[in-house]
Amino acid sequence: MAGSEQNKLWGGRFVGNTDPIMESFNASIAYDQRMWDADIRGSKAYVRALQKANLVTQHEMNQIHVGLDKIHGEWSSGKFQIKPGDEDIHTANERRLKELIGEAAGKLHTGRSRNDQVVTDMRLWLQDAIATLKGNTIDLINTMVERAAIEIDILFPGYTHMQRAQPIRWSHWILSHAVALSRDVEHVEEIRRRVSVLPLGSGAIAGNPFSIDRELLRKELDFNEISINSMDATGQRDFVAEFLFWGSMCLMHLSKMAEDLILYSTKEFSFVSLSDAYSTGSSLMPQKKNADSLELIRSKAGRVFGRCAGFLMTLKGLPSTYNKDLQEDKEAMFDTYDTLHAVLQVATGVMSTLKVNQKNMKAALSPDMLATDLAYYLVRKGMPFREAHSCSGKAVYHAESKGIPLSQLTVEDLHTFSPLFDSDVSSVWDYTSSVEQYSAQGGTARSSVASQIEHMRAWLKEHRG
Ligand code: ARG
Repeated sequence: MAGSEQNKLWGGRFVGNTDPIMESFNASIAYDQRMWDADIRGSKAYVRALQKANLVTQHEMNQIHVGLDKIHGEWSSGKFQIKPGDEDIHTANERRLKELIGEAAGKLHTGRSRNDQVVTDMRLWLQDAIATLKGNTIDLINTMVERAAIEIDILFPGYTHMQRAQPIRWSHWILSHAVALSRDVEHVEEIRRRVSVLPLGSGAIAGNPFSIDRELLRKELDFNEISINSMDATGQRDFVAEFLFWGSMCLMHLSKMAEDLILYSTKEFSFVSLSDAYSTGSSLMPQKKNADSLELIRSKAGRVFGRCAGFLMTLKGLPSTYNKDLQEDKEAMFDTYDTLHAVLQVATGVMSTLKVNQKNMKAALSPDMLATDLAYYLVRKGMPFREAHSCSGKAVYHAESKGIPLSQLTVEDLHTFSPLFDSDVSSVWDYTSSVEQYSAQGGTARSSVASQIEHMRAWLKEHRG
């Protein structure tokens, strides 16, 4: 028998060796070793429950704890050695425990299955991962909100359908993305609550036959709740799918923001310049400064959507309870975490170092963007909006056919569209007073943007802890 065969946890009923290609095809140790800490935490708690149920003695429990602490030390100092036959992190840790403490190690897995073990490890790991990503998202939001506060007086064109729409505050644009990210934080907080459900004590499918105290396990491992049904607990990965969808949604928001900024950083727009720290050059064209950071953020959205769709596809074909297909959950979860962890930090870097070209933003405002204001001028003089819209539209057409800016039409010109136009129409052609009209909650007036900033600061305080 090869070395890897002797180490197998499930070797008893097998007489033939595993095909080497099958062996590596089956193994998950290459990636699930990331859960070494969670796996040890889970085992330490489980042996406490075994001791309480009189399945191990106090002495055996201490031996196992000492052994697990040693293994913990080996992993954290990078000295743990993975051996042939270490199929996954659970197998590897137990194999090492036996090497370190001998016979007593064989009692650790009493009544436990890798089916309840793996999903316990994942839920422990993901809770920490979520806390980190939440922190990264909050840092980004904070950067954006404080930037919005500083740059509140900068105006620039707002676009719908990628066409010039109405003048807005640059801070209003920043906050529009920060608000979307705040929903992502709230969403991931909810997911974290659903991740915090203890599956340990479910065994392979039927439950635990040794009246293990699951409440003790819950407390030891700091879970909010205990899973209700052992078949569901070992066979469901809703929490992974939810996390992958969360990552997709968050990246969709970031991709949208990145796309705006890529456009704003082109020579044609020149609204913003990316810091050198987040751009790269071309190997051929010396003049190029590419917004690679933003392009990569945009691209990572596609990557994570793929993880989410791919894993849902895996789940869709499965019968209930544990099937090996579920092993696919881990790479999807780790990759989504790694991607978000990097993207959120890069986005924070980009947003804190970006230079705003206030002059170009102002120069890009044009009188045609005030056509709505021209209609509102008539509305304020008592004309129904539909009619005012049509009068302003005619004025736009007239200016266009004369080849002059809308603001250059004389009062006499305007009179042909409505007798309500008077010399005070000149007040319409002011971008600052245009944005100041939008003072209702959520709008682009200074007071309204300022209260959005205050709202977000209070929100940050509430969600930071
Ligand atoms: N490596 C496995 C996984 O990730 C652990 C569970 C194995 N369970 C089993 N019955 N073979 O899903």
